[in-house]
Amino acid sequence: MPRAAAILLACLVPAAGLTDTPLVEAGRTIFVETCASCHGETGQSVSIGDIRGTRLSTLRRVPNGFEQMPPIALTEDEIAAIAAYLAALAAADP
Ligand code: HEC
Repeated sequence: MPRAAAILLACLVPAAGLTDTPLVEAGRTIFVETCASCHGETGQSVSIGDIRGTRLSTLRRVPNGFEQMPPIALTEDEIAAIAAYLAALAAADP
């Protein structure tokens, strides 16, 4: 590809260097709308802790809630998207 196009593409990649697949993008949207009020946009709330890279098996428990976290209804697709977003965040900043 021409050099100018390569540079333009590099600039379009988000600053955090996230692997931006459609699933990650969908997960980001759901997370920002549903989870970020408590967990922050990147899952690094100081008071709650870092939930980047949370395993799918743990995220499947979100609809039941955790000890101090209210239950939040999510479809299996939404859970998979959130898992992809949290995994991409962890991979971008190990
Ligand atoms: C009303 C505030 C609030 C919202 C909204 C919220 N959480 Fe939480 N979450 C918490 C609190 C507080 C904790 C830590 C205490 C606990 O374990 O209950 C927590 C813990 C977690 C944990 C760690 C659980 C563990 O034991 O490892 C995960 C994963 C998590 N939340 C995911 C999510 C996801 C995904 C969403 C959005 C669908 C979400 N949370 C929305 C408050 C919230």
